[in-house]
Amino acid sequence: MRLIAFEGLDGSGKSTLIQEISAQLTTKGQAFVITREPGGTPLGDEIRHLLLRTTGDAPVPRAELLLYEAARAQHVERVIRPALAEKKWVLCDRYTASSVAFQAGGRTLPRENIDWLNDFATDHVRPDLWILLDLSAEDAFRRMEGRKLDRFEREAREFHERVRAGYLALARENPAEWMVLDARQAAVELCAQLVAEFKNRGWWP
Ligand code: TYD
Repeated sequence: MRLIAFEGLDGSGKSTLIQEISAQLTTKGQAFVITREPGGTPLGDEIRHLLLRTTGDAPVPRAELLLYEAARAQHVERVIRPALAEKKWVLCDRYTASSVAFQAGGRTLPRENIDWLNDFATDHVRPDLWILLDLSAEDAFRRMEGRKLDRFEREAREFHERVRAGYLALARENPAEWMVLDARQAAVELCAQLVAEFKNRGWWP
């Protein structure tokens, strides 16, 4: 079993890549679950709505962070840990690095508080590998044109540039656990690189 976290700006193509890789796992007969943050559980989906809606009382940055962490705690306990215990792969669309990139990078909250809360919420369940679909804020904005935008997608370009820088800093801090992919490539290309990496690590079923 493996826990793989997919990260990147909105519009970077995480969900398409997750679909591609899951098709590959299916052909290998490997059981897996696809899940996402915020969400992944009924309570998490309710919290997701509170976080992403563009009407009503917007959470202040610290409340925002705590809501993400609450959804995360529920997600780890109810979905991720049970799936790993059943020897499944878990393909997770966003995880703790999103809180570092968005709430520390984007919102400029202190990193140390986020690290502590991430450890508390996950009870130290860490991914085996992080996949960063790296994309410039400019390209991300271009891809989101015409979409109905949530509260984060409506943030200014500078916010998304800080988020990207936050991700790249995380990947630099821990290169053995991060794979940085150029998100401008086609999904099949990205998927092939990912499978090659899994094979290199001796993980491919
Ligand atoms: P996502 O599901 O990727 O959005 P979409 O449905 O548009 O693909 O993520 C929702 C938003 O939540 C995204 O803008 C990033 C943000 N986010 C944080 O700010 N902190 C977090 O810890 C997480 C998990 C997400």
